[in-house]
Amino acid sequence: MVENVREIKDGLFPFNGDELHKLTFLLNYAILAPSHYNAQPWRFRLSNNGLDIILDKKRVSRFVDPHSREAIISCGAAIGMIEVAAHYFGCSVNINYENTTDRDLLAHINLTGNFDPSDNDIAWFHAIKYRQTNRKYFDDTEPPNQAIDSVQSYAKTLDVQLSLARDIGTIIKFSDMVERAVKRQFAKPWFRFEFTSWQRSLLSLKPDGLTGHGFYNTTLPNLISKPMLNWFNWGSSIGKYNVDKCRNGSPTFAVISTANDDRTDWLNTGRLLTFLLLGLAHQGLSVSYMNQAIQEPDIRKQLPPILQSLQYPQLILRIGKASPVHFTSRRSVEQTIM
Ligand SMILES: Cc1cc2nc3c(=O)[nH]c(=O)nc-3n(C[C@H](O)[C@H](O)[C@H](O)COP(=O)(O)O)c2cc1C
Repeated sequence: MVENVREIKDGLFPFNGDELHKLTFLLNYAILAPSHYNAQPWRFRLSNNGLDIILDKKRVSRFVDPHSREAIISCGAAIGMIEVAAHYFGCSVNINYENTTDRDLLAHINLTGNFDPSDNDIAWFHAIKYRQTNRKYFDDTEPPNQAIDSVQSYAKTLDVQLSLARDIGTIIKFSDMVERAVKRQFAKPWFRFEFTSWQRSLLSLKPDGLTGHGFYNTTLPNLISKPMLNWFNWGSSIGKYNVDKCRNGSPTFAVISTANDDRTDWLNTGRLLTFLLLGLAHQGLSVSYMNQAIQEPDIRKQLPPILQSLQYPQLILRIGKASPVHFTSRRSVEQTIM
């Protein structure tokens, strides 16, 4: 298919091909979705009946994501990429969530007819290739209302709430909770080992995982930072660094929350995440995640009144502007097809 995963030749879309060929091509965009630790926990099964999205259990972080919640959100984000790309190429999409005995089968996708893409659909599509998570301190730029409004209508149809938090009082309360969660996580050796197992050096050829840059305030090479993180608890300084970044480098927070907490909610959260990220990327804005407070169940329960969210916050995002970072790697489409 394509060698560099970001150099997709859009003009090669098989307009005259059958559904199978079209769906196969759309996977080029699905694999560019964000995922927890860049684990890419998705597998795809293509047949004459359409496309199955399957959770790759081997890529779920057992300790930090015991119910596969963040992994399934990531698969939902991949589904969102397929929707956006299909619409751009003029195809309607039918998505059915699966709740069969095959617990890893998440959704089934078919292309159902013609679709007339709006200017918004076209802009979101072009943002797929340059969207990236950016963990730097952001300047004061706020997201334009228009970028948020266009996502809000999808939030309603997906039964997901998107709320924004900008006042410093809220940010201070929230950052204290992040600090508590970070300290608690880094105090556990198994957390540190799982975290560093996804850490890659800038020279790594592995098609998944993350470089350490931006996670904590260090420029140490991986060879040194990885064992140091494994064997020593840096939770206190990483917690402080996160607090400072929340208070001094995060003009806007976005919270995606749901009324329930099951697979449907997680997949819907992931789809909305994709629409939000692409809408913001189109406006030159970046996002990074502050999910530690959600990953700790007792702290998660305390968040809704502070963040004005529904009962189950699913993702907490910082939004702002900063200079671009290195793109993360991806497995090829071939490596993800069963
Ligand atoms: C469900 C989900 C949870 C994530 N959680 C975090 C997080 O807690 N901290 C973080 O820095 N990045 C987080 N990320 C961002 C991923 O690390 C990022 O998407 C991945 O490395 C791929 O990079 P990209 O988004 O630039 O393509 C999360 C992404 C998703 C989809």
